[in-house]
Amino acid sequence: MNTSSSEKPQRLTVPVALGSRSYDIHIQEGLLKETGQCLQALNVSGRVAIVTNPTVRQLYGNVVSRSLKQAGFRSLFIIVPDGEKAKTFGWLSKILDQLVAERFERSDTVLALGGGVIGDIAGFAASVYLRGIVFIQVATTLVAQVDSSVGGKTGVNHRLGKNLIGAFYQPKMVLMDTKALHTLPKREWVAGLAEVIKYGMIYDRRFFQYLEEHIEEILNMEPKPVQHLVKRCCEIKAEVVAKDERESGIRRILNYGHTIGHALEALGNYRKLIHGEAVGIGMVQEAELAHHLGLCSSLVVKRQRELVVHAGLSDQLPSVTFSEFWDAMQHDKKVIKGQVHCVVPKAIGSVDVIPLDKKTVKQWFDKISSCRRQ
Ligand SMILES: NC(=O)c1ccc[n+]([C@@H]2O[C@H](COP(=O)([O-])OP(=O)(O)OC[C@H]3O[C@@H](n4cnc5c(N)ncnc54)[C@H](O)[C@@H]3O)[C@@H](O)[C@H]2O)c1
Ligand SMILES: [Zn+2]
Repeated sequence: MNTSSSEKPQRLTVPVALGSRSYDIHIQEGLLKETGQCLQALNVSGRVAIVTNPTVRQLYGNVVSRSLKQAGFRSLFIIVPDGEKAKTFGWLSKILDQLVAERFERSDTVLALGGGVIGDIAGFAASVYLRGIVFIQVATTLVAQVDSSVGGKTGVNHRLGKNLIGAFYQPKMVLMDTKALHTLPKREWVAGLAEVIKYGMIYDRRFFQYLEEHIEEILNMEPKPVQHLVKRCCEIKAEVVAKDERESGIRRILNYGHTIGHALEALGNYRKLIHGEAVGIGMVQEAELAHHLGLCSSLVVKRQRELVVHAGLSDQLPSVTFSEFWDAMQHDKKVIKGQVHCVVPKAIGSVDVIPLDKKTVKQWFDKISSCRRQ
């Protein structure tokens, strides 16, 4: 059911508690056209550089710049290419060039309008320009709304690896217009659901059950369940990040599904699977591995697998050899003192982080490979 036009859409606010770096996330259908008012309410003054890409500029650039103008802000666009190829030193330096040319001051604002790529590069630019200027995120993809815009990780890719260069830099505010998700390509939407399912599995049994019960409405993008899931994911991420801003402990649980997921992305040369698709398979396989190790019941694996599949994601490991698979896992950023660590479920809503040894993983891998051959 769509919200009728006479009914004012509800605004949900999630606080992120990080002491002097605390900020609010606002979630609302149609929020883009209130961007200017939100900045005013935050007491932001000065000019606004809207960092975005051609796709998002065309869809939502005018709504945002008009709203800023109505609220008395002067704004300009800084455009980088669409997709992961924009997350480079080269494009970072082009953003900085423009800020310098426009004589941006520390009290001016960098506003990221887009998905995770835009948030990561614009946030990093904001963190280094004049040693840090005001940064606002306006997240327009599901991945950005449930994950990348919360928590302050910013950065670019290095030629030798993803996200190797960056900074922790918190925004002053995050805006999420759930209506903007309607223009996302279906593949991006479904891939983002993998991260949503992850939150239920690592932290909140009831939320996992909610997803099981409402997956059809979610796939139909009904406003209420979508707003609810965005809010719940933000709350969980905010809670985890507030406990461990710099990922030295509990924040690692957010990597559930990612040890195997990252390996599969790399094995497909980042072309075959998009990130969320790899995480979907990663979660199912890491649950299988946990069951093999006697850490969780077969029911946990079954529920994990069924929700992933109902969401439209694959649960199947592509055909790779064990040595390819194991080698790809060694490059994961989460290798600690040379040993691969993996987040494994104990129950729905509860996980552990364990070191993996080659022999055990090989036994499991051989077992599932022989099952697949039968
Ligand atoms: N900082 C973090 O904590 C964190 C967490 C997760 C992911 N990330 C990063 O985020 C990136 C992935 O983010 P993503 O999945 O949002 O990808 P993305 O930013 O590339 O966006 C996906 C595609 O959707 C388009 N798009 C954006 N909003 C749209 C809309 N409303 N309608 C139609 N199209 C739209 C984009 O132009 C792009 O083509 C990766 O670089 C990853 O490393 C960062
Ligand atoms: Zn992820």
